[in-house]
Amino acid sequence: MYRWSAPPEGTDVCAISDVPTGGAIVVAVGTQRTEIVVVRDADGARGFVNICPHTPLPLNIDSRIYSHENEVHCDHHFATFRFSDGLCTAGACPGEALTLVPLAIEGDRLKIAAKTAE
Ligand code: FES
Repeated sequence: MYRWSAPPEGTDVCAISDVPTGGAIVVAVGTQRTEIVVVRDADGARGFVNICPHTPLPLNIDSRIYSHENEVHCDHHFATFRFSDGLCTAGACPGEALTLVPLAIEGDRLKIAAKTAE
């Protein structure tokens, strides 16, 4: 299993307006430049570690990340993951999920939030 170290609480991620509603972006965060997939739907924005649960690779091959109908897609074997919880709904790893990155809104910015209990 891939282990991920969260950037410190309060680390700036991006402006909320950087993420189109119904879309997704990849942001390199903190001093380690940790890649986070930030998605946004009508319920708000969520972050996920940019590592596919099928094979530990970033979801995107180039600078853009593909999303459609509130799901983000992996470029490698075309798994799709729900914006709402990162669950794989089709493709190579059904039932597995992206790792959630807790985000908080501060003004017009998204920041790394305190880690929630597991
Ligand atoms: S690496 Fe993402 S679907 Fe295989």
